[in-house]
Amino acid sequence: MKAIILAGGAGSRLYPLTLVASKQLQAVYDKPMIYYPLTVLIASGIREFCLISTPADIPRYKTLLGDGAQWGISIEYREQAKPEGIAQAFLIADSFIGRDPVTLMLGDNIFFGGDAFPRAMEDFKGGATIFAYHVNDPERYGVVEFDASGKALSIEEKPKQPRSNYAVPGVYIYDNEVVGLAKNLKPSARGELEITDINRIYLDRGTLQVKRLPRGFAWLDAGTSTSLQEASAYIAAVENRQGLKIGCPEEAALVRGFLSPSQFEALITRMPNCEYRDYLNAVLEEAR
Ligand code: TTP
Repeated sequence: MKAIILAGGAGSRLYPLTLVASKQLQAVYDKPMIYYPLTVLIASGIREFCLISTPADIPRYKTLLGDGAQWGISIEYREQAKPEGIAQAFLIADSFIGRDPVTLMLGDNIFFGGDAFPRAMEDFKGGATIFAYHVNDPERYGVVEFDASGKALSIEEKPKQPRSNYAVPGVYIYDNEVVGLAKNLKPSARGELEITDINRIYLDRGTLQVKRLPRGFAWLDAGTSTSLQEASAYIAAVENRQGLKIGCPEEAALVRGFLSPSQFEALITRMPNCEYRDYLNAVLEEAR
């Protein structure tokens, strides 16, 4: 399984923050937003990444993440010239995906709790797997309707009258057919290649699995100044209570065995003295 992280977009709701760096480079409490989805994917066992962003932001991501070797992963970069839809990611990353299945994750989605994603990726056999999460404002998202047995009946993008409160979060797992499907997709009325259209094709074929994320699982939005601040406060509250970080790619790479303890230690010695370094030292001591 390979992974694409989509980290472009306009970020207009975070203006003027996004004049100098994209939304996914902004801080969520103590680290850049992109660390959170990246860590979920590393913790799920993925080692090959393609990061897609705007031409202006790609150099900034390269400064932050490099080629990934420091974490025992590889990261390729591709530009999205204009935000023409989430499903465009499969066209941009075509040569990266090759013949493999692929997980697409949005760079501004922050999750906490449980092992739904690693389990879904390990269990993935084909078709598509997406998730559903109960929200207060489903009209802002793709919305899934279920029948009484829990089977998905329909998916609609930003419906004015949602048929349920179940929104589709930004983690989508596909077999290799997704590339061909994306190539045949037509732009929607708003001029975007819609991920919901891809999901609907799998639904119509009977090969879409929709897994409901349970109560107690957090999916945070960080797209506005208020929700960004709330996400930071949530992460701070949990991290400071537990003494464990959320969204720490170094730690996930160590736990997954992508880094040996000695490689991890070498990584720490290259960091300035800071709270993040102290935390990684504590992680290493506990691991030994
Ligand atoms: P949105 O939150 O819908 O859009 P945005 O990030 O551009 O923000 P705003 O509405 O404030 O202008 O996008 C969801 C995620 O998908 C976000 O991480 C950006 C990313 N994205 C792209 O990278 N390329 C695209 O073409 C689209 C539509 C979204």
